[in-house]
Formats: sequence, structure tokens, C-alpha cells
Amino acid sequence: MSSVQRPHDTHNGKRMLLNHPGPGDPDEQTPYSSYLRSEVLHTLQMPLSDSAAEPAFMVNAQVMELYFGLIVHEMRTAQGELRSQRLDRATATLRRTAAHFRALNGNWLSLSWMTPVDFGPIQRGIAEVHGRRQFSALQSWMFRWMAILLGSRSTDGLVSLEGTPTRLRELREALGHPTLYDDVLGLLAQNGYLIPVACLQRDFAAPYAPHPAVGEVWRMVYQDPAEYEEFFALGETLADIAEEFTTWKYRHLMSVRRTFGNRDGYFGEPTVAWLSPTLDEIPFPELWTARAAVE
Ligand code: HEM
Repeated sequence: MSSVQRPHDTHNGKRMLLNHPGPGDPDEQTPYSSYLRSEVLHTLQMPLSDSAAEPAFMVNAQVMELYFGLIVHEMRTAQGELRSQRLDRATATLRRTAAHFRALNGNWLSLSWMTPVDFGPIQRGIAEVHGRRQFSALQSWMFRWMAILLGSRSTDGLVSLEGTPTRLRELREALGHPTLYDDVLGLLAQNGYLIPVACLQRDFAAPYAPHPAVGEVWRMVYQDPAEYEEFFALGETLADIAEEFTTWKYRHLMSVRRTFGNRDGYFGEPTVAWLSPTLDEIPFPELWTARAAVE
């Protein structure tokens, strides 16, 4: 394979990223490429249009997918640490999670220049290959899993995954398991804080119902950070995560506004109107409401 750069290289008959030098020889690896799988990684960008915007759109969406996966991994690790009463370890893991979220959100900068003229050809290219009403980012099961761990119990987008029954089943199962916040409340209870039984032994598949007694626990912690140092640090780390998750949704919504406007999305409804209410679903509810009662 020549190393000369051409407008479109192909791999297994599929077009690859512009100016890509080619798939290389899979038998030729350096320790670096073997560890990072970089020879595979650089064959995963296959644009469907001639739009100069598509490489940036695709790479950033892929990087975001990787971050969704990393964040899911970290949050599940933190859940295990909370369940084994290792508060300091869990807080450290969640601090990493907040850092990943910040980097994830930084990706929107790389797409900030996009306009409808940039996005249109990408959308048409996808529609030509996958069908006009078949494709939706709602099919990002990793994003959905991340949202589920953060407390979302919305099943609206699951219909878009009917073509992948295994992923659909996995997500339905995940909906019935404790969220990150459930494990935080469990640890608070184990440490003697007055968390109502109804909040601990609840139907995990249902949305969490905020409780004044939980708000009172957080108020107490926030009223005296020095006394409740460890749970205060956990609370602030959770607040960072909630803020960054909401920031992702806000930046996504603004990107949609700039590149797509309020035209109809997957469900045939105006996209901005459909996405906007999700901004109000902020994780860890009493962590926010309790602040109003701190003197
Ligand atoms: C900048 C151009 C973008 C446009 C115009 C756009 C458009 C949309 C639309 C219309 C929806 C609502 C569902 C639907 O009707 O299909 C949606 C949801 C979503 N998009 Fe995007 N999107 C863009 C960028 C991205 C990027 C870069 C990612 C990164 C992976 C992404 C991930 C998602 C996810 C995960 C959802 C589901 C959100 C939720 O369920 O709350 N989008 N997008």
C-alpha cells in the first residue's frame, strides 16, 4: 500500500477518513500500536459524504462514545467501592469521573464551527445508507447506560434499539439496578445517617422520588463541611458530575440548534422542544434542593 495521501482511501471496500494513509499491514505492529490498537483505531473512520465537516463530526462523536464508556466503567467501579464502604476510594474514582466529563465536554469546541450547510450533507449521507428515519443517536446504548447510572429512568429512546435485542435487554436490566445515587444513599445509611427505608428499598426501575429526610441529611453535611468532611467531599464531587452531565446536554442542544434547528427528529417531533426538558433532569436531586436550606 502506497503511503501517498489520496482524497479517499478504502478499506474492505469502504471509504476511509480523508488524507488517511491507508489501513497498513495488520501483521506489522510496534509495541505502541499493539498496546493502543492504533492500527485498528485509524481504520474506524468511514465518512458517508464528501462534506469536509464529516471527519471532525465522526471523530468527535467516536471520542465521545469512548468517554461514555469510560465514565460508565468509572461509575460502576465507584458503586462497588461504595457498597464495600470504601468512601475515600469511591470519592477518588468519582473525581476521575468528573475529570473525564470535563474532557468529554471539551470535545464540543472541536465542533463549534458547524453550520447547517456543514451538517446537511452528513445527514443526507447517513440517510442514503441507513434510511431516512432509521438512524438516531438515541441508539447510543452507552450514553443510555451512562444516563441510567446517573438516575434517568426514561425509556423513550429504547424503541430505537429494537434492531439490537441484546443491547435492549441489557439496558432494560440496567434500569432495574441501583443508580450511583442509590449506592450513595446506602452508604450514608450504613454510616448512621437517617435515610428513609422507602428510599433504600425502592423499585429501582421507577424514577427516584426525592425525600425531605434525604434533603435534611445533605443540608446538615453542607451546613458544616468541617464536621462532615468526607461526605461533603463526596457531595461536591457528585455535584461536579451532575453539572458536567447537564453541560453535555446543554452543549449538545446548542450544537443541534446551530446545525439542525428545530426541525423534526426521530420521533417526528421538533428536536429542540424534545431535547430541552431533559436539561431539567439533574442527577442527585436533594444535593441541589438542600442548598436552599443552608444558613
Ligand atoms: C452537531 C450536530 C448534531 C445534531 C444535529 C444532533 C441531533 C440530534 C437529535 C435530533 C437528537 C434527538 C433524537 C433524534 O431525534 O434522533 C439527538 C440526540 C442525541 N445525540 Fe445528537 N446531534 C448532534 C451531535 C451529536 C454528537 C457529536 C453526539 C456524540 C455522540 C451526539 C449524541 C447524541 C445522543 C447521545 C443523543 C440522545 C440524547 C438523549 O437521549 O438525551 N449528538 N441528537
